[in-house]
Amino acid sequence: MILLTHTISETRAVVEKQTSEGKTIGFVPTMGALHEGHLKLIRQAASENDFVAVSIFVNPIQFNNPEDLAKYPRTLEEDLLKLEGTGCNLVFAPSAQEMYPEPDLTEFDFGNLDKVMEGKFRPGHFRGVAIVVKKLFEIVTPHKAYFGEKDFQQLAIIKKMVSMLKMPVEIVPCPIVREADGLAMSSRNARLTLDERIEAPAIYKALLSVKENYSWFIPAGVKQLVTGEIQENQFFSVEYAEVVDTQTLQPFEDWHDAEHAVICVAAFIGNVRLIDNIVLY
Ligand code: PAJ
Repeated sequence: MILLTHTISETRAVVEKQTSEGKTIGFVPTMGALHEGHLKLIRQAASENDFVAVSIFVNPIQFNNPEDLAKYPRTLEEDLLKLEGTGCNLVFAPSAQEMYPEPDLTEFDFGNLDKVMEGKFRPGHFRGVAIVVKKLFEIVTPHKAYFGEKDFQQLAIIKKMVSMLKMPVEIVPCPIVREADGLAMSSRNARLTLDERIEAPAIYKALLSVKENYSWFIPAGVKQLVTGEIQENQFFSVEYAEVVDTQTLQPFEDWHDAEHAVICVAAFIGNVRLIDNIVLY
């Protein structure tokens, strides 16, 4: 049986009982419209913890585009059905009023981590993500929390926040889950038209082909290559393609300058914005 809570006090009462019984708590924060990518995180949490909490909250303060917020799918009933059999024990689905009775004024200094890519093109986005995840961690008090590498920069920001604030939670990164044709699973995929959905795997195809050939080019060349390859398809407009160090998320000039590198892409297909990435080495 999955418990459903809407308030902070109910949620605290449930998790406090679990911790007082010595149970470990795994936590998967989500914005709902659940798909196999989310469910994988939840199953992993269930295999590594005694009790699993999932939050479903479309966090208004992390949306820089009001239309994106308005159109974000909200499917709580279906989500609850999908969670059956995953090992999820508790769903916390608060209201915005419950989470933000008054504007939250918290500021974070993530150094250069949020100055690039998503942080650059979605001003305020990571502040909103960090505020909500911090609040959720304080309510759910998880031992381990699970985040997908699909949102590579988000994962880096959350790790940084946890280390800066010395929060007693282990952040567990989880690999990207893809559709059979390579498209990274995303709640936003539901907004693609049939034609767009057919073309959408072009992002991953470009990333894969670049992973094969990157060493022939300098990092800046790879960035152009992947942009060009995606935009060969008339459906796409690339917002950014960046080759960055996996730790610092900063661009670099020569392959020797980064121990590990990832290429991150954001592209519009129609008016749906998709992100994806692949670790090069
Ligand atoms: P959401 O987009 O719902 O994603 C919830 C978690 O699922 C994130 O950690 C995300 O990286 C992971 N995820 C989504 N698609 C995935 C995929 N295809 N493969 C692997 N993991 C995937 O990310 C958020 O919500 C929000 O920003 C949140 C952290 C909940 C704060 O509001």
